[in-house]
Amino acid sequence: MISTPITRGLAVLSLAWVTTPALAAQAAPPAFNNNCRTCHSVKEGDNRLGPSLHNIYGAKAGSSTTFGNYSQGMKSSGITWDEATLDKFIANPEQVVRNNNMKPYKGIDDPAVRKQIIDFLRSQSAGP
Ligand code: HEC
Repeated sequence: MISTPITRGLAVLSLAWVTTPALAAQAAPPAFNNNCRTCHSVKEGDNRLGPSLHNIYGAKAGSSTTFGNYSQGMKSSGITWDEATLDKFIANPEQVVRNNNMKPYKGIDDPAVRKQIIDFLRSQSAGP
């Protein structure tokens, strides 16, 4: 394209259009929507098949007081959700919490996808 002030202006405009949705950083990434949203919301108190994941980063596993469907395995796991525990759990729940209820869920092999989800969960939490 020939660069005139008008085409440059258009380029800037279309760039702004492309980047604006990304600035709404609180929106759930496709990685979360595709893999978790059937069963989880990040809205406080919004329990579905699984508990709300609001404030999950930094929380003790199985500690929501409003979700009534935890497995014994989850409640007694004694773990705290952080980067490492979430990463392992999302990759393969059974490996972290034996006899958990998070089914049917197959695990995510791609570390980059897991990281996107963890970063998002962290952004929805008040913890560190
Ligand atoms: C098929 C439904 C389902 C899907 C899909 C699912 N979950 Fe779950 N999730 C559950 C259920 C049910 C529990 C409670 C498990 C238990 O108590 O053993 C749970 C528990 C959890 C917990 C522990 C919550 C707590 O309060 O300690 C985390 C963290 C979690 N899920 C994250 C995810 C993430 C991240 C994804 C997507 C990558 C996902 N889940 C996909 C149903 C699901």
